[in-house]
Parts: sequence; C-alpha cells; structure tokens
Amino acid sequence: MQDLLDEIAATLGPRPDRGSVADYIPELAKIDPQQFGMAIALADGSVHVAGDADTPFSIQSVSKVFALALALGKVGDQLWRRVGREPSGQSFNSILLLEREEGIPRNPFINAGALVTTDTYLALSSPREALGHLLRFVRAAADDEGIHINHDVARSELETAHRNFALAHYLAAFDNLHNSPDKVLGTYCHQCAIDMTCRQLALAGRFLIEGAGFPRLLSRDRRRRINALMMTCGHYDGSGDFAFRVGLPGKSGVGGGILVIAPGRASIAVWSPGLNRYGNSLLGTEAMEVFARRTGWSVFG
Ligand code: DON
Repeated sequence: MQDLLDEIAATLGPRPDRGSVADYIPELAKIDPQQFGMAIALADGSVHVAGDADTPFSIQSVSKVFALALALGKVGDQLWRRVGREPSGQSFNSILLLEREEGIPRNPFINAGALVTTDTYLALSSPREALGHLLRFVRAAADDEGIHINHDVARSELETAHRNFALAHYLAAFDNLHNSPDKVLGTYCHQCAIDMTCRQLALAGRFLIEGAGFPRLLSRDRRRRINALMMTCGHYDGSGDFAFRVGLPGKSGVGGGILVIAPGRASIAVWSPGLNRYGNSLLGTEAMEVFARRTGWSVFG
C-alpha cells in the first residue's frame, strides 16, 4: 500500500495539467496549486501517507458528510421531508431546480441541500454551540483534537457568498429554513472552513465503514445511506463520471480534497487544489482512478 501511494504521488504530483484553484472564495485563490497529498486509513489501524499529506487544506464540501450525519442524528428520517436523495445533474451551487421543485433541494450535498442540513443541526442552538458539536464529532471520528475552523476562509467566503445567500433566501421563501438565512449562512461557511490534512480526513472517514477496527458512530442503515448518497451525489454533475472511473463512494470539496470510502476496507483522502470543470479535484480524481484500478477495489465487485 505504501509503495502504491508513493508511486501515485510521484507520478501525479508533478503533473503540469492540474486544473485551476477555486477563486470565487478569495482566500482559496491564494492556495499553491502545486500540492498533492494522499492518505489511507486501514482496518488494522495503520495509516499510509504520501506527498503533502500533512498539510492542512480547506475541506469545504467534504464537511457536508459530517453535517449530514449530525442532522440525521438530530431529526432522523424526518430530514427527508425537507431534502431529497436524487442526483441533481446540476452544478453544486445551482438554483435552477429549487424553483421548479418548490424549495426542496434534490440532495444534501448540493449547496441548497447542505443549507437545509446545516439548518437542521443548528436547530435552536447558537452557531457557536452547533459548530462546537460538529467539531467534536469530526475530532472524535479522526481521534484528533487538533482539527479547527479557519476563520479567515470562513470570513472570505461569507463576504462573497452571493449565490449561497440567494439559495438560503429561496429556501426561506418556501418555508424550508427554520433559522434566518444570515444565521444558516454564517454557520455553513464556518462548517465548510474546517481545515484538515489528508491524514486527518482519512482517519475521520473511518466512521463510514463497518467492521472490526473502525469506530462506530452511526447505525448500519445510516452509514449505508450516506455512502449511497456519496456515490450518487457526492461529485454533483460529475458523480456519474466519478462512479464510472473510480467505483467507490466519494465526497469532494472545492478546496481540492476528496474523501473516498472502500466499504469494509479503508478510508482514503486525496488532495490537490486544482479543480476540473465540475469543481472537483482534477488530480485527486485521477489519483483515485489509478488507486481503484491498481487495488481492484470497487463496490461493483
Ligand atoms: O458553498 C460553497 O460554495 C463552498 N463552501 C463549498 C462548495 C464545494 O466545496 C463544492 N465542491 N466541490
């Protein structure tokens, strides 16, 4: 496993065609695109890393997986009255379907759906309390107290979050937000601004795997369903392409991170800041394609 990770990092790390970093969040536009890291956490407790696996990056939409687990913990299946579980076939920040489908977002991983899950775990608490709860969950999953929110990134996103404000107000217009758009957006931008390394993210992802050696923070049904949503919706309008090329459930973020679950086997995190046209890590996706081919791991047998 260590040899494979080293080989992938050595081959893909220096590649010149690496996509472009997200620039609609000014703080993310400053990130050096020449970085590449990968980490894998296995059932025997071992972790293998390669490249820039100990450099913190903004997990952005990967946080939607932890937020979903928290929201389900809060209200259970009632969440599905407020958000669907179908792929949207649209970009992550699209408002298009929200009008036609009367304020019920297609799934919890597009921004509109993630705003509903944030609103759900916020419930009646303050943003500080809710984010504290989220951080405790992520730290427990990773078994690492050194995971924090990057407040510069959160502020930078909040100042330019015009599309997300539009989505939140649209949801509110359809009575699908319980808290004010300002409160939900403030919490959501801080949630997305959690910094993690590949090593921390691979460790945190173990809660999505059943088996001896993996922490149990979720029921089996819930874990299966989150994995199903990662497979069908985790890469937005690039989800079909990711399933086709990698064959494992994954969740991407515009910081260039991807969390991938190999059920029963491992949690894998890869990071390279340059994005493809869907807003998912270009080299991260390629790395996972090579990794899946070389290991033979796939949920499709
Ligand atoms: O809401 C946003 O636009 C960002 N905080 C997160 C988007 C994101 O990571 C999309 N993923 N590839």
